[in-house]
Amino acid sequence: MKKPTTLQTIASDLGVSPTTVSRVLNHKADQYRISKTTRELVFSKARELHFIPNPMARGLKMQKTQTIGLVIPDISNPFFASIAKSVEQEARKYKYSIILCDSQEDMETEYASLSLLEQRKVDGMIIAPVGLQGGAIEQIHHGGTPVVIVDRYFPNTDVPFVGSDNYKGAYHAVQYLIKAGHRHIAFIQGIPDTTPNIDRLRGYRDALQASDLPFNDTLIVGDSFGEENGYLEMKILARHHPRPTAVFAASNLISLGALKALAEKGLYVPDDISMISFDEQPYSNLLKTPMTTVAQQNMEIGQIAVKILFRQISNTKLEFNKNITLSTKMIVRDSVKRINQSL
Ligand code: RIB
Repeated sequence: MKKPTTLQTIASDLGVSPTTVSRVLNHKADQYRISKTTRELVFSKARELHFIPNPMARGLKMQKTQTIGLVIPDISNPFFASIAKSVEQEARKYKYSIILCDSQEDMETEYASLSLLEQRKVDGMIIAPVGLQGGAIEQIHHGGTPVVIVDRYFPNTDVPFVGSDNYKGAYHAVQYLIKAGHRHIAFIQGIPDTTPNIDRLRGYRDALQASDLPFNDTLIVGDSFGEENGYLEMKILARHHPRPTAVFAASNLISLGALKALAEKGLYVPDDISMISFDEQPYSNLLKTPMTTVAQQNMEIGQIAVKILFRQISNTKLEFNKNITLSTKMIVRDSVKRINQSL
């Protein structure tokens, strides 16, 4: 069987040193003033010999594998997909690749993902955690592997965090519904034990309280950020008497499920019920009734998380207690109808 091509193979074929080959292939030719001719010779020889660098060998030598791990709760959710896209694009600028893991909103799966990434000796991790217990993640960070958590945090964690101001986003959305005359406003929530949901629920409650509106527990329903949660809960809410005049959906997929349930019952937004959805999506303005949404800065969350991570990787100095909360923006479209409703 043919021996695998190594740096030495390329170097001896070209009559240059293995160090020169390594510097060219690691995009350090400028730094070491290696001529354009030599660079082109090295790259074409590497292609000719199908050279694939051995990340572990490189990692052992430089103590870096030039990979970072990204753990998100649901790859199929457009919100997390946009975070993954942003992280991958930003990491590429540092000549890094990512190992993407889907924790499936499950603690055990998240733990298995973290172990896998540790075994792969990633140089750092970006994690949107499941649940509110940060044990394993904090252990990894304090153990010397840089970590940045995104979107969801733990109370009292000192691991760097980048996310949205979910409280204000929710508060302003519900305040908007109240100003449009709505008094019976339902909240279809996501996973109760996640900080985005805890903060959105707080914003919902405080907006009602600020307008001296009664708080009705039966109008807070749901337990997942997924489409089925929105569908099932909306089917139930549609049968309430009196039916809520407005629904605040805690996420992109929840509102999609709610719309499906309303369509099945022949109810329309906003004529029969008004709606605001957390999370702007590419389809938000393409819906039969373009949706008013609370947009997060998805791409910026990913970009900032990568920058904080690489500051730790390159300076080998861990950061603690750095919380970056980005503002949300309400995008007003046609899904809210003004009504005159007495208490
Ligand atoms: O749809 C996914 C939701 O869960 C988003 O709102 C995001 O904030 C995540 O927590």
